[in-house]
Amino acid sequence: MAKRVFSGIQPTGTLHIGNYLGAIRNWVNLQRDHDCIYCVVDYHAITIDVDPRELKTASRSMALDLLACGVDPERSILFVQADVPQHAELAWILSCVTSYGDLARMTQFKDKSEKQEFVSAGLFTYPILQAADILIHKAQGVPVGEDQVQHVEISRRIARRFNSRFGELFAEPEPIVTKGARIMSLADPTSKMSKSSGEAHYVGVMEAETSIRRKVRSAVTDIGLTPGETMSAGVANLFQILEIACELQGDATTVAELRSEFSEGRLLYSRLKDMTFDQLMGVLRPIQERRAKLAASGDVREILADGARRASEIARATMHDVRKLVGLGTEA
Ligand code: TRP
Repeated sequence: MAKRVFSGIQPTGTLHIGNYLGAIRNWVNLQRDHDCIYCVVDYHAITIDVDPRELKTASRSMALDLLACGVDPERSILFVQADVPQHAELAWILSCVTSYGDLARMTQFKDKSEKQEFVSAGLFTYPILQAADILIHKAQGVPVGEDQVQHVEISRRIARRFNSRFGELFAEPEPIVTKGARIMSLADPTSKMSKSSGEAHYVGVMEAETSIRRKVRSAVTDIGLTPGETMSAGVANLFQILEIACELQGDATTVAELRSEFSEGRLLYSRLKDMTFDQLMGVLRPIQERRAKLAASGDVREILADGARRASEIARATMHDVRKLVGLGTEA
């Protein structure tokens, strides 16, 4: 049987190229030989302040983006987390086998809570919900970026503690890390690309071509070298984007050419930026076209309803076993 894989992404409104090049293209590739379940995690989104009038739209929009990128509902399950409320039910039960000390060590909580005026308990217990996502589907593999490895690790510990307290039920999931694809901000190449840093920092997968050109052209390249570096963080970031974009289009020569120009000290950054923009658009244009067609077809609602139905079947079966092992409720 094919290995089962689960991953989730928050409904932040739009995907940026850091999400796509770093994670989502890996999700798409895994579909070839894995049984994949992908989830838009709206329960996770409410751990910080989000506008309820925007959340549902953001979830549908993220699902559309994922479909446009190549998540295939014929082969994989794609659904929105809160359409399968068993995720939240399992999270409560798992919270009772989660170590408070483990949670307190989560670096993402430390980072995120510093940025919040009101720090919710949900933000603190966020990794438990993530563990529930993974474990309720009995996933063996979890494709994530480097920054999420700690969350997969705590999921393993939670699975282990559940199994030893209540009986063997959960497999311990392994992270599947996309190598060398940490795309940095264009405006500040020392920090990871993210939407929350502001417009200038990220390139949206669905962004207009003119705007992408402007952002790539104004990418910061001259921040200087730290000792031991031969290439500044900004230049390295452009090379990384260029390299993945070329790879996705089966072009092996462009990057090698530019790299040798760089090492000979005759690479103009304007040329690097133009090539990066061209190659990037070569990847994004077909995705944008698919997105437009899908949005016009109105099929996303049905795809998500079907995904939720299939995910519910798995989740209900797991919860049946969990409730039985734990001794919850009075039903037979
Ligand atoms: N915490 C993940 C992130 O911020 C999103 C996520 C939620 C997730 N549930 C998951 C990732 C389950 C992998 C598996 O990127």
